[in-house]
Amino acid sequence: MLASKGFASDNNSGVHPSILKAVEAANSGHVIAYGDDVYTKRAVERMRANFGMSADVYFVFGGTGANVVALKAMTESYHAIICAETAHMNVEEVGAPEKFTGCKLLTIPSSDGKITTEGIKRHLRALGNQHHVQPRVVSITQATEYGTVYTKDEIKGIADFAHDHGLFLYVDGARLANAAAHLNSDLKGITAEVGVDALSFSGTKNGMMYGEAVVFFRKELSKDFQYIQKQATQLPSKMRFISAQFEALLSNGLWLRNAKNANRMAQLLASRLSEIPKIKITQKVEANAVFALIPKRYVPIIQRRYFFYTWNEYGYASEARLMASFDTTEEDIDSFAGFLKKVIAR
Ligand SMILES: Cc1ncc(COP(=O)(O)O)c(C=O)c1O
Repeated sequence: MLASKGFASDNNSGVHPSILKAVEAANSGHVIAYGDDVYTKRAVERMRANFGMSADVYFVFGGTGANVVALKAMTESYHAIICAETAHMNVEEVGAPEKFTGCKLLTIPSSDGKITTEGIKRHLRALGNQHHVQPRVVSITQATEYGTVYTKDEIKGIADFAHDHGLFLYVDGARLANAAAHLNSDLKGITAEVGVDALSFSGTKNGMMYGEAVVFFRKELSKDFQYIQKQATQLPSKMRFISAQFEALLSNGLWLRNAKNANRMAQLLASRLSEIPKIKITQKVEANAVFALIPKRYVPIIQRRYFFYTWNEYGYASEARLMASFDTTEEDIDSFAGFLKKVIAR
């Protein structure tokens, strides 16, 4: 039987009670649809308070959708988007960014989810060559798909390099809150202030029911965004219910508390797992993910009670991705680690 809470994904968790309350509170009377309402106005104001007054803010349904519409606004079909080979947009979005933008993704091998200017440079050789796609956007994921976090200097270095070559920097911020919590930074300190041009900011993975934000820091990028958003089916008609959630998430530091809890629980999980000799942690634990090699023969037994995804397969072991959520507790970790110890001692 599956345990009531597991570590497969932060998408598997429920909704924070304050967010549910905000949805309920927004459920009164009629308001204008598609975002022309007081909830959306207030949520945008909160977003600007966190990302800076230059932020142009839009709310969409999902994370893949956010990536697609943001990238579409930044590119023409003859452009290319440079990202890590491990990027969600490259691996797990069923080709949606390529389909909707028409752009080729140029990938950079990465063992920890991060890319560097060295890797980007290799894709710039054909800039200005009529026969090659033209790199226009560098996309980084913060925190990365491997739970690692770019420092402010690393982001600034990539942003400066991109701008020097006429490219924009986009951040897939599915776990931007976790990255900010790890870096002890506010949100604008790791985005607008270090040269990010556009980003997505996830609510879903940090305690909301659903909803993501797309933010632009350059007016020229968002000038036609309203049309792109609608055409790509990412304009929620009952926008107030996403906006009310964002307003609650960005009130009283809830976004940061949720992210801090998830990060702290990932640290605790990693320390418990490292007490088990046959398990090996493979990545730095900086956000809310723990990557761990588990001998293959134990994996199906563990998964029957605690389902999780395996990322890489090696001869003797599977690499498990274990994610903590806003609602993970120390008791959840104790139960899981205790179960693992028992199974692996067999
Ligand atoms: C890094 C990253 N980007 C984007 C997404 C896409 O989000 P969604 O599943 O809401 O489309 C995910 C989902 O897990 C993700 O992990």
